[in-house]
Amino acid sequence: MSATRLSTLDLREMKKKNEKITMITAYDYPTAELVDEAGAEIILVGDSLGMVVLGYPDTLSVTLGEMIHHGKAVVRGSKRAFVIIDMPFLTYQVNSEEALRNAGRTIQETGAQGVKLEGGVEIGETVRKITQAGIPVVGHLGLTPQSAGQLGGFKVQGRDLQAARKTIDDAVVLEEAGAFMLVLECVPWQLARVITEKLSIPVIGIGAGKYCDGQVLVYHDVMGLYTGKRPKFVKQYADARTEMLRGVNNYIDAVKKVSFPGEEHTFTMPAEVLASLLDSCQ
Ligand code: KIV
Repeated sequence: MSATRLSTLDLREMKKKNEKITMITAYDYPTAELVDEAGAEIILVGDSLGMVVLGYPDTLSVTLGEMIHHGKAVVRGSKRAFVIIDMPFLTYQVNSEEALRNAGRTIQETGAQGVKLEGGVEIGETVRKITQAGIPVVGHLGLTPQSAGQLGGFKVQGRDLQAARKTIDDAVVLEEAGAFMLVLECVPWQLARVITEKLSIPVIGIGAGKYCDGQVLVYHDVMGLYTGKRPKFVKQYADARTEMLRGVNNYIDAVKKVSFPGEEHTFTMPAEVLASLLDSCQ
């Protein structure tokens, strides 16, 4: 782990000072390099990897091996950001021993700084076990995509009193179990505000309003690179896809018209070598 990377203490300090924390996903070396250079404090190697990079229909198909493979590239590509890796479906739900082994493997093989797990009270013991082993854990509540089937789809969570109370209780359990940060996805802003004020750990929102301690978005959504369905809470900040398409179109066009490669991209040989070569070929 590099000494120049941000730490859990730095992130907690930012909450104390009311400085907003920025988190964005990345899944490969060049993207990690780019978002690190841009100054994002946290890079999340989310299991959204499955949908935006690997072409799966959901996040459930993502394996630990795939997360580790991409996590390694992100760690290599970044210098300053705190790197968090999502624990994929069924790598932490079976029991806490297996969860610890998988979290340990993730940290050991990638060099990332922390792991993220979806769920509340039901994973409290697991979060405790992983943090007691010295691994920083981020909780994830609200709309938890790995259990979207059980939640009845990709819907706003915590809208009624009972669900809102349960989300608050879950958040408190996660903090008490040792989580150093919480991601809150797709909940009413008022609920996110209550939780952000109640917890002393940073709360990062996605579709959870502006009162959270920070925000997270998926890189491919921010850059306009994902062609699938875009949720209401996403804001696109660039149209990289159009620009990339233009570049590839220009390249194809140039090859077809033989305007590429030009002389400046071409190697030559001395005239006498060429003459001898042609002679020897006759
Ligand atoms: O997988 C992911 O990218 C995430 C974020 C949307 C928070 O969990």
